[in-house]
Amino acid sequence: MSWKRKDLLDIESLTPEEIITVLDTARAFKAVGERAIKKVPALRGKTVVNLFIEPSTRTRISFELAAQRLTADVINFTAEASSLKKGETLKDTARNLEALNADIIIIRHSATGAPHFLSRFLKSSVVNAGDGAHEHPTQALLDTFTILEKKGKIAGLNVTILGDILYSRVARSNIWALLKLGARVTLCGPSTLVPKVFEQMGCRVTYNVEEAIADADIINLLRIQHERQRKSMFPSLGEYSSLFGLNKKRLALTKPDALIMHPGPINRGVEIDSEIADCGRSVILEQVTNGLAVRMAVLFLVNGGKGPQEVGVA
Ligand code: CP
Repeated sequence: MSWKRKDLLDIESLTPEEIITVLDTARAFKAVGERAIKKVPALRGKTVVNLFIEPSTRTRISFELAAQRLTADVINFTAEASSLKKGETLKDTARNLEALNADIIIIRHSATGAPHFLSRFLKSSVVNAGDGAHEHPTQALLDTFTILEKKGKIAGLNVTILGDILYSRVARSNIWALLKLGARVTLCGPSTLVPKVFEQMGCRVTYNVEEAIADADIINLLRIQHERQRKSMFPSLGEYSSLFGLNKKRLALTKPDALIMHPGPINRGVEIDSEIADCGRSVILEQVTNGLAVRMAVLFLVNGGKGPQEVGVA
């Protein structure tokens, strides 16, 4: 399978083969990152713009580092200091970036569909770094990469996603990726944040946390997305933590080799106890490390790379 897309907008529209191509390419770039010289000239002379209109630590910095490792020129757009503040539209902003020869525009925006909108009129490649509660495709790719690296497979695994599913773009992208690759996905959290309608995607929905974690090979915890909630979805953080938080008592009910994942940022003491976030079964920081190789792969592919076979000669 060779990659043919100019943009990465979501996981929903990808085929399983395209997902595998990204993961295989990321594996090749991870090997490059273990060499003494970690830079390759694959994007030499290209310009990558990080157009982040929402806060980010992991995604923005790893895209910046990924572009640098590929020898691209990188511009970090600062929304607060930009002409968006003077009323310029997103469309005009993006067209001006393209006029400055941006080859790849990486966008994070609070509005669902913002990357899809840009891709309709830009010749530059567009990469979705998170759009509202819709999708966060590179997060799902780095999560599946990490699972594959740790478990050697995705098909047949039981993956439980626990927390605020309703407002989570990470959940939606993970659900698409995991189901396309043959995993079984269980969703759990307060009923206000885990609507039964997710069963129509092919997930199991349960509100019993002990049941959700008992047979899980992977437990992926999500924080409460307060910034997207227009009203209170549960009585208090203390109650959420006591009913759904992963603590020592609940960890004892899980399979001994179940992995603990979290896309970050973590709210210690709410969805996850601090000692569990830092325990030997937690792969939270490995997810962050893998994000670099995955984002190098995505930039390489949307720029015209075909797949892992080209990484060695990049
Ligand atoms: N996981 C994630 O998207 O983290 P940031 O918001 O820090 O990029």
